[in-house]
Amino acid sequence: MTSTINYDEKIPNNVGLSSDRRLQRALEGWQPKFMNWWSEMGPTLEAHDVYLRTAVAVGRAGWAHFDHVKPDEYRWGIFLAERDSDRRIAFGEHKGEPVWQQVPGEYRADLQRLIVIQGDTEPASVEQQRHLGLTAPSLYDLRNLFQVNVEEGRHLWAMVYLLHAYFGKEGREQAEDLLLRNSGNPDSPRILGAFNEETADWLAFYMFTYFTDRDGKYQLGTLKESAFDPLSRTCEFMLKEEAHHMFVGTTGVDRVVMRSAQLIREHDTLEIGPHGGVPLDVIQKYINFHYSVSLDLFGSETSTNAANYYTAGLKGRWQETRRDDDHRLTEDSAFLARPRADGTWVTEELSALVTLNLDLRGEYLADCRTGVRRWNRILEEAGISYRFALPHPGFNRSVGVHGGFAITPDGEIIDERVWRHLEHKWLPTSSDLAFVRSLMQPVHEPGKIASWVAPPINGINGKPFDYEYVHLA
Ligand SMILES: [Fe+2]
Ligand SMILES: [Fe+2]
Repeated sequence: MTSTINYDEKIPNNVGLSSDRRLQRALEGWQPKFMNWWSEMGPTLEAHDVYLRTAVAVGRAGWAHFDHVKPDEYRWGIFLAERDSDRRIAFGEHKGEPVWQQVPGEYRADLQRLIVIQGDTEPASVEQQRHLGLTAPSLYDLRNLFQVNVEEGRHLWAMVYLLHAYFGKEGREQAEDLLLRNSGNPDSPRILGAFNEETADWLAFYMFTYFTDRDGKYQLGTLKESAFDPLSRTCEFMLKEEAHHMFVGTTGVDRVVMRSAQLIREHDTLEIGPHGGVPLDVIQKYINFHYSVSLDLFGSETSTNAANYYTAGLKGRWQETRRDDDHRLTEDSAFLARPRADGTWVTEELSALVTLNLDLRGEYLADCRTGVRRWNRILEEAGISYRFALPHPGFNRSVGVHGGFAITPDGEIIDERVWRHLEHKWLPTSSDLAFVRSLMQPVHEPGKIASWVAPPINGINGKPFDYEYVHLA
């Protein structure tokens, strides 16, 4: 195990693949299927080359190399964070024991399931975003889209490696299926709901990379704590790449808000649609939608599966080792607010173990608030009194205790019929979507940018905004 990555092999890796011929052959058999998937389901816009980063090492310093690369020739590979030979299990009934280098028989099915669910989201997002290149607002944004897409492809590789290396024939079959399910496909959809929604425009892309990639960050954070060490190390390295995806989201929404604020000031009206900007209330509706579907990804607030995964050591809490408690949680409790049919809320005290999904959601929610604060600061600095807000966690939910209830962004439980009358105020309507769509005119010239978004403050890897990030085919 080295911290540098071998690019001489067919599959770049730092897992010593060449010393395991069987595994190497199996993965080399999967590789052309992945390439097929990429050409059929990956980006529809043909680029001659894109200024992309490629991982060259997994250590702390200087892990990435930037160069113009043809996306089809990107070197997808298998990179695990360095192994800590003293690492011990940090939580659950095996707390204090050495971490596992192999999959214990009794946890095989559960671990495989966790890896498949994580793996399924990675190619799904590439499928959801495949047409966006055609309407990119600038070459800088187009480059970021390609970067996110190739790395999600690599995250699929990361999960497929685990399936191939540790789960035998069943793992190999699951690896094939990860390429057969497709986002939004009525016959074989992706496993999780949010990954079957189309990312139809660039505002949705920024929201997705802000809210949904951030869900991914928290899920990976729990798997990074896993007692199954190869999974932990895989996730640790994926998190490194994910940081850029969320940066694209955070700064993407920043730039939309900045441009809208500019147009509001310039024309002295909130109705900036006719001036080529996205009105603030439409941005708020996008926030409401993407935040609420991302909350569904955390699963049900009460979950015995989550409790079992924790006790077994398969999946920890966010920043498990920094928590100041016994890391077993058998004596602890947590509170859950539950909507009732009479329109009131009741607070229940439950075992901390069955509410671990709620715990993770709480960490995520706090993180999402920081985005809203920064977007509001942009408005404040522009002297605009409008403020964005995250809706109540019960708003527009299908999964968990809120499913089946109609709950307003303020947390009021209302009648289903009333909801249908008011929904258009809270979620993007078909005319909002069509309007945002109409703004999505491609700008593929270096240094130029679309009307509805401000240019970035900094370019990528020290390059200026007008750098030729992409050469189109
Ligand atoms: Fe990912
Ligand atoms: Fe991502």
